[in-house]
Amino acid sequence: MDAILKCSLDSIKWNKNQSLQFLCQQTHDNVKRAAESILAGKVVGFPTETVYGLGANAFNEEAVRSIFKAKGRPNDNPLIVHVSSTHMLNKYFSQQLPWTYERLIKEFWPGPLTILIKSPTDLPGETTAHLDTVGVRMPSHPVARALIECSGVPLAAPSANSSGRPSTTSAVHVFEDVYQRTEAREVMNYILDGGRSDIGLESTVVDGLSDVGKVRVLRPGGVTIEALKKVVGDDNVLYDKTQTKGEDFKPTTPGMKYKHYSPTAKVVLIMSRGGDKEDKTERLQELIRSLGTDTKIGCMTLQDSCITKGLLKINERTDQLIPYFVGPSSQPSVVASNIFAGLHALDKEAVEYILVEGVDEAEEGLAIMNRLCKAAGNAESIVMI
Ligand code: TXA
Ligand code: MG
Repeated sequence: MDAILKCSLDSIKWNKNQSLQFLCQQTHDNVKRAAESILAGKVVGFPTETVYGLGANAFNEEAVRSIFKAKGRPNDNPLIVHVSSTHMLNKYFSQQLPWTYERLIKEFWPGPLTILIKSPTDLPGETTAHLDTVGVRMPSHPVARALIECSGVPLAAPSANSSGRPSTTSAVHVFEDVYQRTEAREVMNYILDGGRSDIGLESTVVDGLSDVGKVRVLRPGGVTIEALKKVVGDDNVLYDKTQTKGEDFKPTTPGMKYKHYSPTAKVVLIMSRGGDKEDKTERLQELIRSLGTDTKIGCMTLQDSCITKGLLKINERTDQLIPYFVGPSSQPSVVASNIFAGLHALDKEAVEYILVEGVDEAEEGLAIMNRLCKAAGNAESIVMI
């Protein structure tokens, strides 16, 4: 795994005047090597607080093409561009921003919020999929910011997974999921390792340009709708939950129309009907029988739920299930941070099915359910228990 370059988060410091300092020589050397690779037109895997990214110079069209090649991504799906400072934002994307953005940037940057702004004419169409807007965000992960700052250019970066697969939250997952592809190794040499991505789900993508004074959520993510409302006002945040449904649905975010977040195993999303006090063992047993008695089944569930209790009871008899607890129902942010890691971990166990317990759609739960519904793929794979 020579491609993985370790970085120590604590050794990266931003001084008051916004200059960057490294307290560890190895981290400095590794970030510098990765930045040189970016400037040579290569793709670099790097950590962010949401998920790992596959970055390249956003203004170099050949380098951006390499990102699509590395992950096998359809090229009509635009990329998010990452900046290390508001200074970099102003240098490359200078424009008047709506008041909603001013407030959101003040509150949530650096962090998991992507804003759509007008795309400058010198930004290649490869980056934006020829749209007239571009999604921009300033990540808070010290290694991400250091890499962008040392490169001196904004980095276009999608999530670092092969197209259609769950996003990655560790360097090893990037290595296994992307770097194993020959197409990836042709265009990328390094993956910076900055530990696990804390948030574990991608950034929230918002459009504050289309409706004056309003912010439309195109993809729920690390910044919750509740948090957005606190900053710009309840009435000014729009979100259409039905946007992924319906025959003639036209996606507002091009990425939404593609197969997404799918592990190799088939995902079955289980939703708890009625109270959480009921014994669900019988109904779960029926579901498991319908999947086949010889099949290995992964179970990603809340550690304190009646679904977990039922599954553990069943497993005493069959030993067919591999449990993976994503966290307690009272802490959706913890659950969020374990979703992609869980899908990858259970895939490694070569299970045929992954039963995933659905959560409440409050706070981070909204983004979690958005990803889980897509991972399940269609209505037949959503079961009420
Ligand atoms: O947290 C994140 O956002 C991660 C990390 C690496 O920053 N990145 C990420 O990128 O999730 P990606 O490419 O996997 O997802 C970007 C999403 C896609 O659904 C894309 O269609 C949407 O953002 N998007 C990007 N630019 C857009 C635009 N101009 N208009 C509408 N949607 C856009
Ligand atoms: Mg993605």
